[in-house]
Amino acid sequence: MKTRGSGRQRPCFSSSPPGGEGRERGIFEIIVTAAVIAACLVLLVFRHSSAGVQDTKHNLSTSGPGPVKAPAGGEDQVCIFCHTPHHANPVAPLWNHDETQSSFENYYSPTLQAYGAGEAPPIDGFSKLCLGCHDGTIALGAVVSREDDIQITGTGVDASGRLTSDAEGYIGTNLSGTHPLSFIYNGPIDGKLKGPPIDRYVKLFPTQGGMGVQCPSCHDPHENRSTVLIDGKGWPPFWQKESLEAVCLVCHVEIIDPPPPGH
Ligand code: HEC
Ligand code: HEC
Ligand code: HEC
Ligand code: HEC
Repeated sequence: MKTRGSGRQRPCFSSSPPGGEGRERGIFEIIVTAAVIAACLVLLVFRHSSAGVQDTKHNLSTSGPGPVKAPAGGEDQVCIFCHTPHHANPVAPLWNHDETQSSFENYYSPTLQAYGAGEAPPIDGFSKLCLGCHDGTIALGAVVSREDDIQITGTGVDASGRLTSDAEGYIGTNLSGTHPLSFIYNGPIDGKLKGPPIDRYVKLFPTQGGMGVQCPSCHDPHENRSTVLIDGKGWPPFWQKESLEAVCLVCHVEIIDPPPPGH
């Protein structure tokens, strides 16, 4: 269903999430997207060897390559931590993970056009789903489809299965150093930003009743397309494009310095 390498065929990952692109998506499209995810999930049960999420830190099952995962003899399903074909949270793509109840401190700077001081809209949509694991308040294995949390262990996970503040993937609830998120972006804004992106990978996602920048605008939770090191240290994790700049320049006219996304 999904091949590796540059000539990517991504039938399971190419459609937009429910509520995406246009603001008036019909229930029909939502059903079609749901059917695509359900079909992919079913296929994956039978295709243990397929690349993608399996080879990333987002594979929290026993087969995961990262330090944080289910212990031997534990959960062997890969997608279950985020998606389920049944009884999902209605927010977005057949979502299976418990949502965070945290309130977040948002980015602000005096040069920002999107919103005024103290007026940042609340984090919503897919960003909120990501933060359900990354803010460290909810167990990684807390899923809607199981009565008990799925057990997850490893360096950077506390006894309740939550990411600890020293974990590589910990973001917490202070997003004041993170790129602005969850605001409607109709762009272009004062010559510094291009119009809303038209790109295969870098996209806007539903927010505040419109479309805007969310975590998956920069990160693909399913795989990493980066081939270029950041400062010789590492690759941008789960990156939507081959280099750091390639993502920024889909929306920005030039790279702004200093960039906020250090999280
Ligand atoms: C760590 C969380 C996570 C895991 C694990 C995960 N997904 Fe997703 N998936 C997401 C998020 C978030 C979205 C919505 C944002 C997006 O489209 O990138 C999504 C969207 C999708 C979509 C909608 C199409 C699209 O990309 O727009 C499909 C299909 C999908 N996932 C399939 C899978 C399958 C199959 C697996 C297991 C191999 C899987 N996902 C594992 C988080 C996850
Ligand atoms: C089911 C829980 C879960 C969800 C939901 C989730 N993640 Fe993760 N993510 C993890 C775990 C666990 C790690 C590995 C953390 C570590 O090693 O410290 C990770 C790692 C990452 C990393 C790489 C960190 C590194 O240093 O290599 C990025 C980037 C990331 N996630 C982004 C996202 C984004 C963006 C979303 C939403 C689209 C998301 N995650 C949703 C659990 C989750
Ligand atoms: C504007 C692009 C952009 C957006 C939006 C974005 N990130 Fe990142 N993210 C980055 C970059 C760039 C890095 C690498 C930073 C570094 O290594 O200094 C990164 C790193 C990470 C890491 C690795 C740990 C770390 O602190 O460096 C995690 C986890 C992560 N992002 C999750 C998220 C989540 C969750 C969201 C939404 C709440 C999000 N990101 C939104 C660009 C972005
Ligand atoms: C999907 C589109 C999109 C992507 C991708 C994106 N940005 Fe942004 N960025 C925006 C929008 C929209 C704003 C809000 C601009 C405003 O309101 O003035 C913004 C704001 C910023 C700001 C704050 C500007 C200020 O005046 O405070 C910085 C810095 C920034 N981006 C850097 C980056 C960097 C670095 C990257 C790549 C790692 C990146 N952006 C990727 C759309 C994007």
